[in-house]
Amino acid sequence: MPCVLRPDITEDAVGGLDSTWNAFRGRVNAALEKYVLQGTGCPSQLQAAMSYSLLAGGKRLRPVLVLLACEACGGSPEAALPAACALEMVHTYSLIHDDLPAMDDDDLRRGRPTNHKVYGEALAILAGDALLTLAFELVARDVQPPHIAAACCADLANAAGAVGMVAGQVADLEAESLTEAATVELLEGIHRRKTGRLLCSALTMGARIAQADTDTLSRLQQYGLNIGLAFQITDDLLDVRGNAEKIGKGVNKDAALGKLTYPSLLGIEASEQRATALIEAACHLLEPMGSRAQPLRDLAQFILHRDH
Ligand code: IPE
Ligand code: IPE
Ligand code: MG
Ligand code: MG
Ligand code: MG
Repeated sequence: MPCVLRPDITEDAVGGLDSTWNAFRGRVNAALEKYVLQGTGCPSQLQAAMSYSLLAGGKRLRPVLVLLACEACGGSPEAALPAACALEMVHTYSLIHDDLPAMDDDDLRRGRPTNHKVYGEALAILAGDALLTLAFELVARDVQPPHIAAACCADLANAAGAVGMVAGQVADLEAESLTEAATVELLEGIHRRKTGRLLCSALTMGARIAQADTDTLSRLQQYGLNIGLAFQITDDLLDVRGNAEKIGKGVNKDAALGKLTYPSLLGIEASEQRATALIEAACHLLEPMGSRAQPLRDLAQFILHRDH
């Protein structure tokens, strides 16, 4: 089967996850550039602020997952590209707002000064707003057929909004000033919503665009929730023991802000064990999908062992 996103690579020559990830990331980056620079009538400073964060690099984990999920379900990754770009726009908006002085007050993101440090708080807020709304324009207009586009819009909105990422961010801020003792349930509820839900929507949208059957869709969603929670646990661990240059953001920030994190509540070892168990559970869910889900297994292992 020819691979539209990797025209220079034959099926046999495709190596491990790295080469696929690099190729998919290149395609996503090119499409993001096209989408963010095409709007006529966008004030130049707003376009600059949007591009500054969106085109600053980043792992592109979520869009790559959309493409991988679509491919694992027998769909064409090309068809999933608009949804992949939309998810990366929502993620980037969440980072711009997360870094604001009123939230985590961070100076460094994706290896450069945060959006509000360069463009000021007002434009940073508005650049986030514009990325969020542009994301839904893309899905509604460019995902085919229209009923799948509508389902993807609903999934993404639910994952990003008042019962998803935004709810998690509210709970994250509230937990900075808890009066009662924190529990694992509270911590897990924060992490699942602030990070797990959006990451899970990558699987949901990729599978929907490939018109996957309901059992496969449900397995991929559970896989997504598990790796999403594990991803936030490893993010917490990187804040404690990561290298700022490698992760492109500050370290030791969570303790300074009094954040409720896995290492702060459970310690490093128990956090690692929880992440390992989640990754094992995620991979177990993929068993009926056989070898076509191998990139998703490899990606789960990346999340567990990542240093950036
Ligand atoms: C950082 O996400 C924020 C979290 C949800 C933990 P990433 O680690 O995916 O950040 P980028 O996209 O690579 O910059
Ligand atoms: C962020 O969690 C989750 C978002 C919804 C953006 P963090 O606050 O831990 O993310 P980083 O460490 O700043 O990237
Ligand atoms: Mg935060
Ligand atoms: Mg933060
Ligand atoms: Mg963090």
